[in-house]
Amino acid sequence: MANGQISAVNIDPAATQSETQAASDVAEQLDHLLAPAHPGTRHSPRHAFVIFGASGDLASRKIFPALASLARSGELPDEFTVVGVARTELDDASFRRLVLDATGDEDDAWRRLVPRFRYVSGDYGDDSTFRKLCGVLSEVDRDCSTGGSRVYYLATVPSLFGPIATSLGRHGIARAPAAKTRASDEPFVRIVVEKPYGRDLAGANALDELMHSAFDESQIYRIDHYMGKETVQNVIALRFANAVFEPIWNRRYVDHVQVTVAESLGVEHRGGFYETAGALRDIVQNHVMQVVALTLMEPPAASDAQSIRDEKVKLLRAIEPPDPAEVVGNSIRAQYGPGTINSEAVPGYRFEPGVASDSTTETYVALQLSADNWRWAGVPIYVRTGKRLPKRLTEVALQFRGVPHLPFQGRLSRDLGPNVLVIRIQPDEGIALSFGAKVPGAEFRLRSVSMDFSYEAAFSERPHDAYERLLLDAMMGDATLFIRSDEVDHAWRIVDPILSAFSDGSTSLHQYAAGTWGPHEANLLLERQGRRWRIP
Ligand code: BG6
Repeated sequence: MANGQISAVNIDPAATQSETQAASDVAEQLDHLLAPAHPGTRHSPRHAFVIFGASGDLASRKIFPALASLARSGELPDEFTVVGVARTELDDASFRRLVLDATGDEDDAWRRLVPRFRYVSGDYGDDSTFRKLCGVLSEVDRDCSTGGSRVYYLATVPSLFGPIATSLGRHGIARAPAAKTRASDEPFVRIVVEKPYGRDLAGANALDELMHSAFDESQIYRIDHYMGKETVQNVIALRFANAVFEPIWNRRYVDHVQVTVAESLGVEHRGGFYETAGALRDIVQNHVMQVVALTLMEPPAASDAQSIRDEKVKLLRAIEPPDPAEVVGNSIRAQYGPGTINSEAVPGYRFEPGVASDSTTETYVALQLSADNWRWAGVPIYVRTGKRLPKRLTEVALQFRGVPHLPFQGRLSRDLGPNVLVIRIQPDEGIALSFGAKVPGAEFRLRSVSMDFSYEAAFSERPHDAYERLLLDAMMGDATLFIRSDEVDHAWRIVDPILSAFSDGSTSLHQYAAGTWGPHEANLLLERQGRRWRIP
């Protein structure tokens, strides 16, 4: 087993040889998928990493620190460099300073790499920008031995994704040059695209058309940083590396599923962007749909990109887009007003910088979905996300059905709740299972207790940050954790009718005070079905 990450797959001593073989095959496949728990165990092949939007916020906050961290843990080769592209006028030296300001310069490996970073300034609509880029790429191939391989990273505003991709195609740098050396060192060209991928299904299809005019689907790496989170990947480990969970992971035992993505922050300095997005586009279409797909998909035959993404697509296809009447009954949208978080007074959404004073953009969404397939028919999937909720927390909870007959009635079982399996994606990453136990004493009184696994307590290995993991995967050509074109389509197909109902006024915009768990109406969504949201 390459990395031993889940080498704890237990093999029963009484198992037959073929059962033992099958168990170790599964373990080996999952080891491959979950490989980089030990930073430093994988190495990117040589290439130039080209960032569009290099002077922007995302590059400084996420991408440069992730690259620096990969350099520190020895995962970047010597034959590597970064080429920044942006409109801001900078020269190479000031770009290098900007990078070091974002990352610090304590690490030797990183300090050695940065002096060769290059910068191209220019308008993205201007052919001369791409001509300059072609020249710089030839120079870095010569000076840094990057071998004609490139990873392009689109960290610009989304409206530029298509135009940049087509310009790369037009200038002949979207395809890898012919291999000159041994096959294992064949040049490659890949393009990583940030979210949002389109504003709706039609927009995503139009963007795909532009992307595909220059790049093959196999070259396109659509990023959803949630897929890079260790605990999101752990959903796969929990489900498919353990014998005890999968048999009860279905409609016969699960009463309903709750997915919560809660943030305590407001829109910060991104009010202008958020006004054009809203919670449904910003979180539900991508992060929530990915988490739902991994949690509810069928077991993949293998852990390669195609097998896993095929299963995710099958699950998303089983979620019927709601019709307009259903949207009104099954979705709640709301916006935060002023309130208090951590004893601090915070303004309402309409008072945030860049937000219209009469804005109707939703900062909270609660939805009921269902997956109409053999495994999940009739099991409600409740999802909610919001800004300015009491705390930052992402979790998936499977609430199980009750026992067929409870012999302990009334007072004896008053403190007994349902069995719930909670996968805490962040923070305080872990898994908890609540179950009933007897309270010590003469009476047979029951109370719910929780068995809790904490990632931090169990492992000493340093996890990769989500961007680090995903950048390294893209460099290595592993697309498993990236979003395929048909996944994007299906996620928009589900969200599109809800977006229309939100914008045509057929659903009301509710209010909630910052620092609360959302509007009262979201509670009613579950209460009318005899259920309630978890209070994490
Ligand atoms: C981003 C959204 O995709 O995810 C932000 O655009 C949101 O609005 C962020 O704050 C949440 O990410 P995380 O990793 O903090 O849960």
